[in-house]
Amino acid sequence: MSLNINILICLFLCGEVPGIQSFEQVPWLPCQLVDESVTFNDEGHAETEYQHRDAGLQFGHPGDSALNPNKITFLVTGSKVDMRKYIEGVMAHQLRCEIRRYNTEGLQMRWPGLGAQEHDIWFTCTIRHTDGVFIITSFLRHTPATPTPGQAHYRNWAAIADRAALTTSTVMLVLTRSPSVRVGLVKQQSLHCQFDVDHKAADLTVEWRLQRHGERTTLFSHSSHSGQTKGSGVPLNAIGRGNASLTLPLTKQSSEGTYVCLVSVPPLFGSHDITLHIMEPPRVSLNVDSTIFLVDRGEQKVVCEAEGYYPLDVEMEWFREPSGGGGGLLPEKLDTVLYSSHRHHQDGTYSLSAFFLLHAFLHNSGSKYFCRVSHSSQRMPIRKSFTLIVTEYDSWNTALWLFFGFGAILVMVAILFVMLPRLSSARKANQVGTSSYLTCVSSFIRSIYGIRMVYVIQRNAYLQILSLQQ
Ligand SMILES: *[C@@H]1O[C@H](CO)[C@@H](O)[C@H](O)[C@H]1NC(C)=O
Repeated sequence: MSLNINILICLFLCGEVPGIQSFEQVPWLPCQLVDESVTFNDEGHAETEYQHRDAGLQFGHPGDSALNPNKITFLVTGSKVDMRKYIEGVMAHQLRCEIRRYNTEGLQMRWPGLGAQEHDIWFTCTIRHTDGVFIITSFLRHTPATPTPGQAHYRNWAAIADRAALTTSTVMLVLTRSPSVRVGLVKQQSLHCQFDVDHKAADLTVEWRLQRHGERTTLFSHSSHSGQTKGSGVPLNAIGRGNASLTLPLTKQSSEGTYVCLVSVPPLFGSHDITLHIMEPPRVSLNVDSTIFLVDRGEQKVVCEAEGYYPLDVEMEWFREPSGGGGGLLPEKLDTVLYSSHRHHQDGTYSLSAFFLLHAFLHNSGSKYFCRVSHSSQRMPIRKSFTLIVTEYDSWNTALWLFFGFGAILVMVAILFVMLPRLSSARKANQVGTSSYLTCVSSFIRSIYGIRMVYVIQRNAYLQILSLQQ
């Protein structure tokens, strides 16, 4: 029963692409043949016309009949170099395959591998993962049934019939599993490049170049023929195992660029471009806590700071989400936001802040404010928020203060006055005691109410309060 269901699903979803199967199990992978036909105009200039044709890779043995006889079949037969080995577990529908003719630039030579002929012609087959996980380029050697001298040269390319089946053998492949790299600053990074050749002791050259701002530098090169090595980053024993991965020095801003891994065994020349982008995400912070309390009509400067990001482009916005969310009200973008200028730090990163003056009104109490920072290093914007609580203007508190504060002072002063007659009677005997008593009362008032009482004791023992200061 479940088998039937699977087949039904495949009829609807897959069409002719065997999408549910992983690549090793697929005997036939649809491919586009980007065919070129070269014509020469009256002045003898070559004009190339490209034609996209339906084709496919069929994995099998020489003499196998074509599984899709109405398409062009590239029958890939037993070879030591098997592209399927590098694509294990990948679903066939995640692969894009493209075959092109390969021009040896006039270099006509017998390939050193087993079974090669003098007049073999060449194709490249590039298989890329749709999510950019890898790119693998294989070189397919085909021995034409009727050998013609110089057939590998584009001037002499023979036409391929619509239902042709070409028996080929994979003689070499070059792949990268890091076609596009995003990495932070001061990081260890290695760029993947791997190759395989169908014969030992090949005349091999491995090279890494860096292209940035229109400049090209060779970072590493090694030739097995001359034994010469220049530059560093690829261990020679790794090259012996088909591993040409380049280990970069700790990343810095200037590490950005396009790295080209080149592997050549004459007359074949394979390469992959690897783009490296430095990406450092911003650290986002606010100058306020997650809840801030303000009185009605109060103000507060609120700053959102994004620090330490790279590259420069960043988008910072402030939004207000009205209180009582769930009412379907959309956050509204604040238009009174000001920005600092970009600050450039020594490590190559940038900082920026976005701030506004928050005016608190009672009806905004409970509103949530959030700062949204979008940067290319992040799939989703970073959000930092706070909630505003607005309390009514503090008139009630002030009244209380006045009532209790000044009330108590009046009581104190009254007590003093009540005591004056006694002070007066004891004035001669006890002048010192009185003044220390007053000092004690005044410092009591001061410590409780924060009011400084300035007083003098007159000769006639009257107490004169000169001032009360808060
Ligand atoms: C290839 O060599 C690099 C060092 O250059 C190493 O880090 C990596 O693990 C090697 N990969 C394989 C598949 O051996």
